[in-house]
Amino acid sequence: MAAHLHLGSLHIKDESTRLGLGSFKALGGVFAVLRVVLEEAGERLGRTVRPEELMSPEVRAVAREVTVCCATDGNYGRAVAAGARFTGCGAVIFIHATVSAKRTQAIEQLGARIQRVEGSYQSAVTAATLEAEKNLWKLVSDTSWAGYERIPRFVSQGYTAILQEVIAELPGTPSHVFVQAGVGGFASAVAAHFASVYGGGRPKIIVVEPSRAACIYESVRAGHPVALPCDEPTIMAMLNCQRPSLVAWRVLSRIADVFMIVEDEDAIQAMRLLARPRGEDLPVVAGESGGAGLAGLFKAHGNRALRESLALGVDSTVLLFNTEGAIDPDSYRHIVGASPDAVLRGMRARAEHAVARA
Ligand SMILES: Cc1ncc(COP(=O)(O)O)c(C=O)c1O
Repeated sequence: MAAHLHLGSLHIKDESTRLGLGSFKALGGVFAVLRVVLEEAGERLGRTVRPEELMSPEVRAVAREVTVCCATDGNYGRAVAAGARFTGCGAVIFIHATVSAKRTQAIEQLGARIQRVEGSYQSAVTAATLEAEKNLWKLVSDTSWAGYERIPRFVSQGYTAILQEVIAELPGTPSHVFVQAGVGGFASAVAAHFASVYGGGRPKIIVVEPSRAACIYESVRAGHPVALPCDEPTIMAMLNCQRPSLVAWRVLSRIADVFMIVEDEDAIQAMRLLARPRGEDLPVVAGESGGAGLAGLFKAHGNRALRESLALGVDSTVLLFNTEGAIDPDSYRHIVGASPDAVLRGMRARAEHAVARA
């Protein structure tokens, strides 16, 4: 693919199997719940509680009295539910009308209670916030707003494990990172981490959003965070957010270099190409939101002015993230024309072939 696009190299960090939970969100949601339980135990026991005590009867007894809650499009709720199950606390996950049955089941299977809310993701955020207050639950949200910033920061800190892995695995510093955004939590973790590690030599950060839910793009145009109306949802369901996270906005508006939008059709093409890549590239199973970074790269590459302003070329080392796998296998099969298992079998076969040739 790099040769086809006349790039030096192209790398994709594949989060499709992270912790068996299907998306990078696993790291943020689980980490935030662990932090919240540790804090609660610290307060109730009147001392500092260390992570290695999470499984101790004393801390488990505290956790049993805690209920965490959050709003989700699917993946984040699954991560919070997994964190709750791991620590032994309760979880109530707020989902909006269009969250698919498969994504909902994936959360329920972890023992969380589902609360369905009329309206959009933003309505689920409001409902989770109000219910948390009423029931004294711990709101463990990945999006933030004025007066609620501490816990979403834990979530973004959790994501930095991915970036440490990337830095350890890549042969050098990437020159460009195309990263998809919903409320911007992940993109801001990428931007902040690379800025702190690489300083002035950091990669260019290009934030990619669906045109139907471009809340960060529109906020940049307005010069301040804006809330979008709820229009027709994008198939990039995990990016279908109407309002940027405040913490993410602060980071991205200062650090990110380019903000761009892609169409649903671009995301579909990216999923298909990742499933059936060119030449000897290995296939990647990417859900609807997972291939959005690649869709952004294609769009930037196809636009001469943007390609030149980004200096995308034979010296570039481009980094992408496949942020999710085929969480909804029926939808994946419908879009890609092959099951996730068939794509994985193709991956194994190609990998074996490459090893045999070597
Ligand atoms: C698969 C996937 N990609 C990207 C994102 C965007 O992350 P954020 O909302 O932190 O911008 C999400 C969020 O849920 C997601 O699930």
